[in-house]
Amino acid sequence: MPDTDSELHIVILAAGLGRRMKSVRPKVLHRVNGQSLLARVLETASALNPASITVVVGHGGDDVRASVAARDNLQFVRQEQQLGTAHALAQTEPVLATRSGTVVLLSGDVPLLTVATLQHLVAVHRSSGAAATVVTALVQQPYGYGRVVRLHDRVAKIVEERDASPEERRIHEINGGIYAFALEPLFDALRAVGADNTQGEHYLTDLVAIYRRRNLAVEAVQVVPDEVRGVNSRTELAEVGAVMRQKKNEELMASGVTIVDPATTYIDDDVVIGPDTVIHPGAVLEAGTRVGSACEIHSWVRVHRSEVGDRVTIHNCSVVSGARIDSGASIGPFAHIRPDTTVGEGAKVGNFVELKNTTLGPASKASHLTYLGDTVVGSRVNVGAGTITCNYDGEQKHQTVIEDGAFIGSDSQLIAPVRVGKDAYVGAGSSIAEDVPPGALGIARSRQQNIEGWVKRRKSS
Ligand code: UD1
Ligand code: CA
Repeated sequence: MPDTDSELHIVILAAGLGRRMKSVRPKVLHRVNGQSLLARVLETASALNPASITVVVGHGGDDVRASVAARDNLQFVRQEQQLGTAHALAQTEPVLATRSGTVVLLSGDVPLLTVATLQHLVAVHRSSGAAATVVTALVQQPYGYGRVVRLHDRVAKIVEERDASPEERRIHEINGGIYAFALEPLFDALRAVGADNTQGEHYLTDLVAIYRRRNLAVEAVQVVPDEVRGVNSRTELAEVGAVMRQKKNEELMASGVTIVDPATTYIDDDVVIGPDTVIHPGAVLEAGTRVGSACEIHSWVRVHRSEVGDRVTIHNCSVVSGARIDSGASIGPFAHIRPDTTVGEGAKVGNFVELKNTTLGPASKASHLTYLGDTVVGSRVNVGAGTITCNYDGEQKHQTVIEDGAFIGSDSQLIAPVRVGKDAYVGAGSSIAEDVPPGALGIARSRQQNIEGWVKRRKSS
């Protein structure tokens, strides 16, 4: 790991509710492509190896904290009332006032910023010796963003949409809401920010004009519009998701994965896929999933937090969650592989089969209409159509064990706890409540009776 940059501190604003989301949950906890907005911003921030990362929390502060509790090296400050972005940053004074160097301010709702852009921001900021450097972008539709007003080419001030004159509203250069600040003049200047605007909030953007008046240099770096997309509404959340998805799909295709239709393929950011795997339209591969090489994932499959080996086929409309599918296995169509399940090498799980907390050994098959729960199946076992493990007695779950080479006839119930021994057979239609010894036939069904002439007698009576 590269050394920590002892002169670099990061602050992330995450105290707002995000009224336009129309949600009870804080905006930064909304998820996009498998990750909360805040988690994504934190990941980018960490990549800069700053000396500290401070998250300003407020609305749902405890939930926000808890959501990122697993990360170390974070500190939190509380903004009791959301009085504006300048007020939010001012809350970090107790933890940053004794530090020196640069503060990079990130917004918890601007998730697409890249590490490279932030590095560029820090480099420009440091080499120019500016008091503040603003990230801006030229966009087609500036509506809703703060506008960057330039005078003789230099940034003179930033005006918010609501406070802008008609002329200022025509400006296409927007404030990305991301800045680098020199620490030294910062907190003193923040105290000079008033709330004389339509929202009555303390705008961080006012700092630009204040620095100008104090003859402190303000610089700007322009970036591509996508990087500073902010999420203020559900529509923008979806737009950001689409940008991320396209980028992810392009990376995967560049690494040798075939994606038949990227527009309808949904792959979360942290998903890993090996070369020569083919992904068909409508597939959804969610966070925490790894897929090996030369696999085929057919349409309308959802894979969540699962490990998939090489040369695995997952047929249409299957759901795989919290499971491990070993190389060469075949799943579906219409299979449901639930958590804590392992499907062994070359094994087959066919249509309308549900597995839960179950190990299906190598080369074993459950090809049709089966439920296996809390079951350990050995290798080369054939589980016939319609087999059901009765694993639940209404209070507790019990285990079924089916040893190597066993054959379970169709439409059998295995009433757990129960064990079918090695190479044993279970006759079709059996209700097996006692263990079947190795090599034995277990059969438990009433004998058939044929009553000759019965139909004719019935019809004539
Ligand atoms: C802000 C900028 C705007 C910029 C845009 C870019 C201001 C006044 N405006 O507007 O110029 O174009 O971002 O996306 O800064 N927050 C707090 N405490 C508060 C208020 C906000 O922590 O009291 C946090 C929010 O949770 C959010 C971030 O600050 O993460 C930005 O606030 P938001 O209200 O979304 O600002 P915008 O209107 O988008
Ligand atoms: Ca915003």
